Amino acid sequence: MKVLVVGGGGREHAIVQKLKESKDVTALYCAPGNGGIARDAVCVPMKATDVEAIADWAAKEKMDYVVVTPDDPLCLGLVDLLAARGIPAFGPDRAAARIEGSKVFAKDLMRRYGIPTARYAAFDDAQAALAYVRTAPCPVVVKADGLALGKGVLICETNAQAEAAVIEMMKNGRFGASGSRVVVEEFLEGPEVSVLCFTDGTAIRPMASSMDHKRALDGDRGLNTGGMGVIAPNPYYTPEVAARCMEEIFLPTLAAMRAEDCPFRGCLYFGLMITRDGPKVIEYNCRFGDPETQAVLPLMESDLLTVMRATTEGTLSQADVRFRDGASCCVVLASGGYPEKYETGKPIAGLAEAEKTARVYHAGTRALEDGTLVTSGGRVLGVTAVADDLPAAIRLAYEAADRISFDGLHRREDIGARALRALV
Ligand code: AMP
Ligand code: GLY
Repeated sequence: MKVLVVGGGGREHAIVQKLKESKDVTALYCAPGNGGIARDAVCVPMKATDVEAIADWAAKEKMDYVVVTPDDPLCLGLVDLLAARGIPAFGPDRAAARIEGSKVFAKDLMRRYGIPTARYAAFDDAQAALAYVRTAPCPVVVKADGLALGKGVLICETNAQAEAAVIEMMKNGRFGASGSRVVVEEFLEGPEVSVLCFTDGTAIRPMASSMDHKRALDGDRGLNTGGMGVIAPNPYYTPEVAARCMEEIFLPTLAAMRAEDCPFRGCLYFGLMITRDGPKVIEYNCRFGDPETQAVLPLMESDLLTVMRATTEGTLSQADVRFRDGASCCVVLASGGYPEKYETGKPIAGLAEAEKTARVYHAGTRALEDGTLVTSGGRVLGVTAVADDLPAAIRLAYEAADRISFDGLHRREDIGARALRALV
């Protein structure tokens, strides 16, 4: 089969490498890909958001299957455009992608169907939102309705901060159209767990659970980033918690989407908080998480393409979806200054050395004409090690990461530390 993966980050590199293991894949393409992905797939220079161009290209080049991973092309309806051209694809259609594309849609869905989440109010009028946050109990969380690169969430310690957040989003247009509606919600506390699940709309198969590390600096300090590292599985996701999530959250969410006439097919990502009152949904994503995927897929034993096609065809209940025992750790190597201003074009050394004992996924790299790889983004590489237990996975990931260098390299030194404390 000729398979196209849409996207160009570390997540897509992990998906491309896993798909390469599949005996059914005869040719693999990635749009736009990056310097590292180019070693594993043919990169096609199209932006992931140019959905019409991608759908036309896939039809012209006779792709048999397309894997759509980033949120924007999913929310723009790339899966629908491909279906109209007779090309099956992995990922939700535009209607189902609203579960991530609109926080108001997601929150209303949870309220209507009794799915546990933070209490909230939604506003499309700035005056009403301001009146509400003036008296809301603090801390309080203000969220832009639409996609905002993970930055549209502000945790406010005081009512004055919450008012300022509403003004920024609704009056000053800080997140563009995404902020013209806001959700104001109760602040929840507890460890966070990410659970990525394959689903065909009815059957659901959770992958190994994981823990992202969103803040830029050690000890969960500094700015929020796209994610600085991941461990899997997440020790807070015990079998008891998993059983509750299945009963109270996962199955009710799928039933709700079917009842709303937008069954979800693809990878549904549950961002959960394990509170004193039980697990609650912090967010849904309509796709694989990044960097979670870079820690989760290396633990998968079954054939990824077969499982993906089963979600498209509605046969997931019969599919073989297995993850190995043991653990994995992914350490992200970023450009100095990320998530704010950073420089690019720095030559990267030590990749081959690191690859002797770990997987190195490329997120922001570019190949020069002479073949030298240089940095080209904020998050540059994800170094993942798999081992029989979490302490060994963490040690191996850092040993491999130590062999890689580029000017200004920034990483966290404490990926997995909180998880280790939970294990004792
Ligand atoms: P989101 O983009 O919705 O995942 O939010 C980003 C991060 O903000 C989450 O990973 C949480 O750490 C935090 N967050 C979001 N909503 C809440 C909430 N209601 N209570 C506490 N923290 C939250
Ligand atoms: N790592 C969080 C996300 O993919 O949204």
